Parts: sequence; structure tokens; C-alpha cells
Amino acid sequence: MFLTPGDPDDLRLGAAAILRQHYGAEATVAARAPGRVNLIGEHVDYHRGPCLPLALEHATHVALRPRDDDRVRLVSRHSDEPWEGTLDECASATGWAAYAAGVLWALRDSGRAVPGLDLAVDSTVPVGAGLSSSAALECAVGVAVASLVDPDLLTTGRRELAQLCIRAEREVAGAPTGGLDQTVAMLAEAGAALLVDFDDDSTHQVPLDLTAEGLALLVTDTRVSHALVDGGYGARREDSEEAARRLGLESLREARLGMLDDLGDERLRRRARHVVTEIERVAATVDALESGDWTAVGGLLDASHASLRDDYEVSCAELDLATTTAREAGALGARMVGGGFGGSAVALVPAERVEAVAAAVDTAFAAAGHRPPAHLRAVASSGAALLG
Ligand code: GLA
Repeated sequence: MFLTPGDPDDLRLGAAAILRQHYGAEATVAARAPGRVNLIGEHVDYHRGPCLPLALEHATHVALRPRDDDRVRLVSRHSDEPWEGTLDECASATGWAAYAAGVLWALRDSGRAVPGLDLAVDSTVPVGAGLSSSAALECAVGVAVASLVDPDLLTTGRRELAQLCIRAEREVAGAPTGGLDQTVAMLAEAGAALLVDFDDDSTHQVPLDLTAEGLALLVTDTRVSHALVDGGYGARREDSEEAARRLGLESLREARLGMLDDLGDERLRRRARHVVTEIERVAATVDALESGDWTAVGGLLDASHASLRDDYEVSCAELDLATTTAREAGALGARMVGGGFGGSAVALVPAERVEAVAAAVDTAFAAAGHRPPAHLRAVASSGAALLG
């Protein structure tokens, strides 16, 4: 099964229709923000490392109407649990609503006068697929509400707005994430991957015209759910931060392979080795993209997967099967993406092999007794935007 991005106009009308149906309200503001897939640079953002994500065409749309009082009502096509509370109660929202209410909280906490509002959500970013549906929701809400309270946040203040969405995820949703997802959802440009260097928070657009090269990025959602909030993500982060502490470093960005022998503990050594080698692979990938060496890019994706599987131990049987099968069926390289423990894999595939690779993965999953996966094509798209 292929998941299509949907017609943007349909999604926009869909969010407005949900708002009308649930709250009898006509939307006055609409915004969208994309999901993302990370080409390479996994589990390094919280070590001041670089990563190279791209925004998907698959996006989350929100429609809202401000209110005259301090009530907030949130409804989504993808949940049968609408949320209702006051602006003050946004800080303690739970479930899917925490990602939207959390942004209202962060904007208020930064001193902006957020009004009460009714808001509806429609999306084609698969949830729980490791493709940052949560950041897409945060950034769509962020852009929509920023247009009401401080329009500069949409232009010169876009990085600050991304930071506020990161605070929403960390402090209200309670997921100790690194910032990769919100940064790309906010700053991506169509036709490019975004090199984000968390050492100095700099960003560079890296042109990615796969079509011209006869290539495509096939994303496979294993439909095994990961949990950033209470899963192994926090444990891996603690391990690697502990490794940095033992080496006397602020983060593993400053570590070199030769130093890791000083880590007595074998597990911590492997965690640190992943971070150090992955940081090197991002730089090598940017070089390979610039010189059009796609075989090298494929090899780096494979090496990244092996490192995440063996050293960081965040892969799982389904992700290993999806990547191995993709390679056997003609992919130049493949790796798991996102936090891990399920979610999605990405494969760099000759364009004419996309269907065949997806079919091979389907067959392998069926033979292994796994749930049927879902696939999508990742096409480098633009970041969050207000819809006029
Ligand atoms: C999740 C987090 C990101 C990043 C990735 C792993 O997507 O939200 O901040 O740490 O995992 O690279």
C-alpha cells in the first residue's frame, strides 16, 4: 500500500470542515506543516551533531478561529478524543492534544498574548511512523497562532518559532527530543535536504534533485509503533550522555574515535561510537551528494543502519528486514529513520524499481508474519506555511 500526500486543497478544506462540523465555526486562519524523513544523521542532534532531513509532501493542516474568552477546543480527524480546556490548562494537556496545546503554552510562556481558540486538524502524515507527525502538528499550530500573535515569527523569527515548538514537545508532551524534527518542518525548502548543524544551529539547503538522477526515496512504515515518551529513546540518550560525561566532554560532538577506548564500559563505548561515526557519515554524505556519487550515498545509508542496529541498538526485526530486502531488491542503500524501535525505513532506489522494491518488502513481511507495511515516496518539500 502506498500512502499519498493527498491534495493540499482537500486537506485544507477538510480541516475547515471539521471545525465547522464540531464547533459551528468558520476558520479565519489555516496553516500546514510537513512530516519529515531524515536522510542521515540519526541520534546525533542531542549531541550537537549534524543531520540531513527533508520535508515530505505529506503534511498536517490546521484550521482555527480565535475566541473572545480563554477556552481552547481542539479536534482532529485522527483521534476520537477532542480536547477542551482553558489557556492555563494547556500546560497539562495529554495525548495528541499535548502537541497542539503545548505550542499555545510555549507561545504564552514567551510573552505572546495567545487568545482562546477553536482548532481542527487534518493530516496525511502517518502517526507513529517515525515521520514526525508530532512536529508537523506543532509547527502547523505554531504558524497558525503566530500569525495572530506575532507575525514576525513567520519570517525573521522562524527559528524562534521552531524553538517554541521544541519546548512544547519537551515540556508539555514530555518527549526528550533533540530538535531535528521541528527545525526541518519549519525551515525546509522544496527540492533540497536541510543540513542542520546543532553545534551552532546553522542550516544549509543541500539541493536534492533525485528525479533528474533517475532515483527516488522509498519510505517504508513498518507499522510497528515506537514511543518517544516512554520508549528506549530516553535510555539511549542517557547512555550516550553518560559516555560524554565519562570522557569529560560536554557532548559527543567533541569526541574522536581514538578516545573511546578510555570508556571502560563496552555498552557506552558502542553508543558513543555510533554518535562519532554517524557525525562523520553526515559530512561524507554531503560530499557525496555534491559530487553526485550516489553509490557512495547508498553505502553511507547502509553503514548508518548497521551502526544504529549494532552500536546504538535502536533497530528492530521489521526495520532490519525492510532495509535488507530493499537492498536485495535493487536499492543503493537503506536505513531506519527517526528514533527507532519501529517506525520507518528509507531506501535510495532507482526510480523504475520503486514498486518492485516495495512489493519485495511486502512479500518478505508476509513471509515473516509481520503486519503489512505501508510505503510512501519522499519528495523534498517546503516547510510550514500559512495558507492565504
Ligand atoms: C526523534 C527525535 C529527534 C532525533 C531523532 C533521532 O525523531 O525527535 O530529535 O533525536 O529521533 O535522530
